[in-house]
This record gives sequence, C-alpha cells and structure tokens, in this order.
Amino acid sequence: MDNITNLFPIDTQAPLKILFAASEAQPLIKTGGLADVAGSLPPALRHLNHDIRLILPAYPEVVEKAIPLKEVATLYLGGHLEPVRLLSGTLSEHIPLYLVDAPELFGRPGNPYVGPDGHDWPDNAQRFALFCRAIVAVALNQAGQNWQPDIVHCNDWQTGLVPPLLHYEGNRPATLFTIHNLAYQGIFSHTLFQKLQLPAELWSHNGLEFHGNLSFIKGGLAFADRLNTVSPTYAHEICTPEFGYGLEGLLRHRQDRLSGVLNGIDYHYWNPAADPYIHQHFDHNAFELKRINKRQLQKEMGLPQDEHAFLLGYVGRLVEQKGIDLVLELLPKLARIESLQLVMLGSGVTHFEDALSDAGERHLGNIAIHIGYNEQLAHRIEAGSDCFLMPSRFEPCGLNQLYSLRYGTVPIVRRTGGLADTVVDVTAQRLLDGNATGFVFDAPTAPALWEAIKHAIEFYHRPDSWWQKLAITGMQQDFSWPSSAIQYLDLYHEAILNPVPNPVSPAA
Ligand code: ADP
Ligand code: GLC
Repeated sequence: MDNITNLFPIDTQAPLKILFAASEAQPLIKTGGLADVAGSLPPALRHLNHDIRLILPAYPEVVEKAIPLKEVATLYLGGHLEPVRLLSGTLSEHIPLYLVDAPELFGRPGNPYVGPDGHDWPDNAQRFALFCRAIVAVALNQAGQNWQPDIVHCNDWQTGLVPPLLHYEGNRPATLFTIHNLAYQGIFSHTLFQKLQLPAELWSHNGLEFHGNLSFIKGGLAFADRLNTVSPTYAHEICTPEFGYGLEGLLRHRQDRLSGVLNGIDYHYWNPAADPYIHQHFDHNAFELKRINKRQLQKEMGLPQDEHAFLLGYVGRLVEQKGIDLVLELLPKLARIESLQLVMLGSGVTHFEDALSDAGERHLGNIAIHIGYNEQLAHRIEAGSDCFLMPSRFEPCGLNQLYSLRYGTVPIVRRTGGLADTVVDVTAQRLLDGNATGFVFDAPTAPALWEAIKHAIEFYHRPDSWWQKLAITGMQQDFSWPSSAIQYLDLYHEAILNPVPNPVSPAA
C-alpha cells in the first residue's frame, strides 16, 4: 500500500469506521480485564459518534447472551475446510456485533482459552488463526457487509495475525495493535505455521518466526501501523529485557509507533452509589455507610462481624503476575494479627488455588478464601474491604485498583505498570496536598509487601480522620473512558495517516 493518504489529510473530526477485534468482551464473556476494556471502550467511542463494530468468536455463552442473531455471510477461509458462518447482532449501546461461528473450534462452553483440565485447548492456533482470517475478511469488505473499516483495532495475541495478513493487501484499512499483556504471546510450532497455510514469506526473523516457533503476538508487534499498551509506564517497561520477554528489541525498533494509553473504567457498572450487587449504596459524601457493606461481606465470607477489624480484599486471577506467592508467604504472619481479616476471590493456576484453599482452612478465624469466578462477589469485596491488595510483579494497567479507588477501598500496590500510574503513595506532604490515594511499595518481595501492609494498618488505626480523607480522595479520582477514548482516536488517525509501507523490515 502506498502512502497516498498522506497527500490528502483526513478530516480528524469525521466519524471513523472502526472494527474492534477481541477474544472476550463484557458482558458476553470474560476472563480478565481485556473483557472490561472490550466491553467499555467501544461504547465510549460510539458516544463520540464513531461507527464502531465489535467482532468476537461465537462461543456458546456469547451466542446465548447475544440473541437475537442473524446469519449474514458464509465465509470460506484459508487453512480451514469447513465454511464459517458470520453472525450479526447488537451489543449494548447499539453497537453492531459480529460473531465468527465455527462450532468445531469455538463451540465449547467455559473458558475461551483453556479446557476443563486447566490446559490450553490443543487447537488454539487453529482457533485464533481462523478468528484472524474472519476479521481480515470483514476488514476487507469481503464478508458481504457493504462496510469497510478505516481502522482495525486488534487486541492481544489472539488477533495478532490480522496486521500481517492485512499487510499484503492493496486497499487495506489501517491497524492498531494493543498489548494488554505481553506475557501471553500465542507461541506454536513451525509445523503449525505450515498447517495454518500462512503466507510463506511470513516465516522469517522479520515476520512471525520467534526462536524457531510461530509467534502470534509478534505479528501484531511487527506489522501494525500503530502499537500501544495500556499504561505509559508499561509502554516503557516492555522495551526492557526485564519485561520484554525477548521482544524488547523489536519494541524498541518500533518505539516511534508505540505509546501507552491508560485504560478507563465503566463508572456505570462500578458505581458504589447504584451497584445492584452490594447491600448498601454509598458515595464520597456518605462514606460512613461503607461499613454496612463490610459487615455484610464478613457475614457472607463466614468471618466475625467486626466493624473495627482491618479488612484486606483481593480479587483476581491466581497467577504469578499478580504476586500471589508474596501473599502466600505472608499468610502465616497475617493470620496472627488480631483484628486483621483477609478475603480473597480468584481462580487460576492449580498450585496457587490449592495453597490458598489450604491456608484458608488452617486460618479459619480471619482468612476467607473463595476459589472461583464470581462477578457479584467481586463487587461486594470492592465495597466491603478497607484495603485492596495488588502486589503484582508486573501489571500492564490493572483495573481492580481503579475499581477499589471508586469504592473507597484504599489500594496497596507495587510500583509497576499501570499501578504506578494510577495510585499515589501516602506521604505526609501528599496527604496535606490532598492527592495521596494508596500505599505503594517497590521490591517484589514479601518483606516489602509486609511493610506496606503494616503501614496501612497503622494508618487505619490512627485516631484522626486521615483514613477517611485518603479513601475519599481515591473515590474522587476520575479514570473514566472519555479522555482515554480520545487518545485512541488520535492513535487511529495516526495509523491511518502514516501506515507502515510495504515491505517492513523490523529488527527482532
Ligand atoms: P487482568 O486482566 O490481568 O486479569 P485486571 O485488573 O485488568 O487484571 O482485570 C481483572 C478483571 O477481572 C476485573 O474486572 C476483576 O474484577 C475480574 N476478575 C478477575 N478474577 C475474578 C474472579 N475470580 N471473580 C470475579 N471477577 C474477577
Ligand atoms: C491485561 C492486564 C491488565 C490490564 C488488562 C486490560 O489482562 O494484565 O493489567 O488491566 O489486560 O487492559
């Protein structure tokens, strides 16, 4: 594709046609924060009058929730024998929704990425390669929709083949690739690369090959017209060996096209003044009502109902990223502190689930662990806890600390990624200035986390009203979507105005 668009600057006020591609989206299917973003950024862009359409795989749960649906096309896609149906429906806020229906690949209930045994589905490469090819068909107006987007917004490795597949097309839309988490890359064997019948020229050091394997995420990183991640700090971190997983060279090479845009959150869904899942509504003018939620949470989790106990909450995937090992190391110590309670909700890696369940049973008095996924309980933990634990080893953005802030639940976070960008550590001066919002620690170690928790406990038990001030400052922060949505629009325009010329020659 040549750079002819540069000669005719586009009207940056005109509505854009945007195809938003993701492997999960609230309220249809969710395993983590990607779903929150895919469910709330498109409505924010729709409010700004852009023609945004969402495309997802047709998992059974999604089909069930998205009805009525109609079949709008039959697609014959490379590397796949069966015809694929394209279904069309509507998401909330009148957002058109496309579902890629290939029952032999997506017709499985439960988690979209892993089977009931906790392991990745063995055909994930085929599943998401097919998803990418269907996205490309819609993007090139080859799916009978009489609609060609100006930009395809790809998210994470499951959409990573879209930029390289589009790259060789003449009249293609621009592409933005958003990295929500560089730790998940979609790595498969060379044999699978051949099986997928991907263009042979993509098998190169400058293409999809990564240490002898096929890397889906590398497709997005090497070929997209623009790249971004979900916080400014993580955008810097991934250009270093510590956070780059060997992709830092490529990311540094493309740094002029890489930026960080902080996620927003949906303040309608996460609103303590109107949350249907919590017992007592409250806001920053009625902070004292929060304690009713605390008592209810204690009751629900089988803990003593004690308003004066210091209640620490955790909600999240139980994986190494989240610093669960640090919490596990501290559990015996936390169990010994009278008047401290800990509530944890999560699911993930089996050894973390087992270790936490064991610990929960041993410390019945003050530690309550709920293994599983429970959206409503997550809201009640946000509403009822005094502090929220997020000791992540890395955190591209993190949404739970943002929900916590809005619910007056003071976050305890490690200074990394989006946590560093959204939580302001308590110091005497920042308290006086009215901008402290939480407790921030540096080293990814149990002793450093312990110091931060101790600091929070001491602060909580002070006789003055500083705790309330700290929590209320957090409640008044604004991490809503509009300002981030405008930054995404800027990225879309930059991608359209300055596409990657063909061929690319990135250094891996
Ligand atoms: P990540 O995307 O890395 O998992 P985020 O903080 O960005 O982390 O987002 C996690 C989202 O998933 C939040 O909305 C959180 O409430 C939700 N979540 C994670 N685990 C659970 C669970 N076990 N039950 C309910 N909600 C969960
Ligand atoms: C990822 C990250 C998380 C981020 C979310 C949404 O799953 O781990 O930090 O908030 O994506 O962008």
